[in-house]
Amino acid sequence: MNQDELKALVGQAALAHVVPGSIVGVGTGSTVNKFIDALAAIKGQIAGAVSSSEQSTERLRAHGIPVFDANTVERLPVYVDGADEIDHRGHMIKGGGAALTREKMVADLADRFICIADASKLVRTLGAFPLPVEIIASASAQVTRRFAALGGQATLRPGVITDNGHPLLDVRGLAITDPLAMETEVNQWPGVVSVGIFARHKASVCLLGTADGVRTMQ
Ligand code: A5P
Repeated sequence: MNQDELKALVGQAALAHVVPGSIVGVGTGSTVNKFIDALAAIKGQIAGAVSSSEQSTERLRAHGIPVFDANTVERLPVYVDGADEIDHRGHMIKGGGAALTREKMVADLADRFICIADASKLVRTLGAFPLPVEIIASASAQVTRRFAALGGQATLRPGVITDNGHPLLDVRGLAITDPLAMETEVNQWPGVVSVGIFARHKASVCLLGTADGVRTMQ
């Protein structure tokens, strides 16, 4: 199976976690696109979705799935999203698609985070994938210096502005051995909008696409 087929496999498998009649939290990315396509087949069984990006909203609407503003929803039973890296404890790096801030917001509304990913995303320690950090533009230099003090090299992602109108840093060279501590630390730096470490909002379940089928990590 190629990577695209593995993504389709886990996108389909995530349907088993969708609560009938509910509003579903929907993430962003190529794996989530497969989930959205699978969700279209059961759209009559759900009330709709809350989306984490303009890209996912467009795809959901193209399938005729109603999209609700996050402000109108108090809780969601389930949020389904991909990851750039996930460790064995369900901590993730996210934001490769620049949607990390809204992804974290929608994840925060949800009782359970269902992570869908192909097996290449599973790592022992987070950090080989450059850590995305959404920032206020004028804080770029000072946040870069703070990462340098931790051994990380931050660079602005060229040509990318998030759905919220901000630039992104990608930080290389970090070995994130304590994801919760680093998320907490970086969140406190002035000028940081959000950091792509998902430790407070870690995966409840990860559906990993492997050559042998879907492996479920709880
Ligand atoms: C979007 O900002 C990201 O957090 C994605 O969830 C992540 O990059 C995974 O994307 P793919 O499914 O395209 O690999």
